Amino acid sequence: MEQLMRTVDMPADQDLTGKNVRRIRVDRRRAGADKINYLRVESVPLNQAVLRQNRVLTGHEPAAARESYQLLRTQVLHRLKENQWNAVGVTSPCAGAGKTLTAINLAISMAKEVAYTVVLVDANLRCPAVLQRLGLAERPGLSEYLTDLIPVEELLVRPYYLEDLVILPAGRPVENSAEMLNSPKMERLVLDLKASADKCVIIFDLPPVLATAETLAFSPQVDAALLVIEDGVTKRQDIARAVDLLSATNIVGTVLNKAGPAIA
Ligand SMILES: Nc1ncnc2c1ncn2[C@@H]1O[C@H](COP(=O)(O)OP(=O)(O)O)[C@@H](O)[C@H]1O
Ligand SMILES: [Mg+2]
Repeated sequence: MEQLMRTVDMPADQDLTGKNVRRIRVDRRRAGADKINYLRVESVPLNQAVLRQNRVLTGHEPAAARESYQLLRTQVLHRLKENQWNAVGVTSPCAGAGKTLTAINLAISMAKEVAYTVVLVDANLRCPAVLQRLGLAERPGLSEYLTDLIPVEELLVRPYYLEDLVILPAGRPVENSAEMLNSPKMERLVLDLKASADKCVIIFDLPPVLATAETLAFSPQVDAALLVIEDGVTKRQDIARAVDLLSATNIVGTVLNKAGPAIA
């Protein structure tokens, strides 16, 4: 990983323009959640060479790359803990900033080092990318869960060597993803995932904020958003528009991705 990532620590109640961001604590009903049985989840082997090629953390990358994700993990977990949150949406103003890679590596970093169950949900239903980035074949996932009567345990996968990481793939790409992400069934699933283990973090790989309305519409279902900015590419006004659109969402932090090794 010749290009590194820098994390930018942003106060939770301030946006990049220094404006105050309204903090909303969404009331979540935990009682009555259906327990998800992770013991039934299928284990799948991952190809380390493919992971390395796709910049996914394997433990064999340069220490600086691993450490930048560890720093991100520490900062995000700290914010989650202090607010008793456990559902984070990874998004960016525009496509290509590195949301999917950040979501995957953050999930791996959390699952490896901390006693948490981490559920990574590919919620980019139009352009799913998590399985492909992990070198796994396409398989049914969230879109099948939302449209067919398939128990979620049958759709989850667990990478062989990462016991505490569970992945919910996106499934077949769909066009009406905004409706699906905002369906009562999705809302129920988020609540079930959030309550599925004593210590769990749910990470959603979301579509970009400015491209479609779905991320904004889905944002009340996450406790906080992590905003990925592509160094030198994401325009200032796009960052400001994205932060403005997400003004009712807690921003857990900002990742300056694809930044050069020099840390200013
Ligand atoms: N830190 C990084 N360094 C180098 N390349 C990166 C980095 N993060 C992402 N990329 C590359 O940028 C491209 C877009 O990343 P991706 O995670 O798919 O973005 P998004 O999900 O925001 O569309 C991919 O080819 C990915 O390998
Ligand atoms: Mg993506």
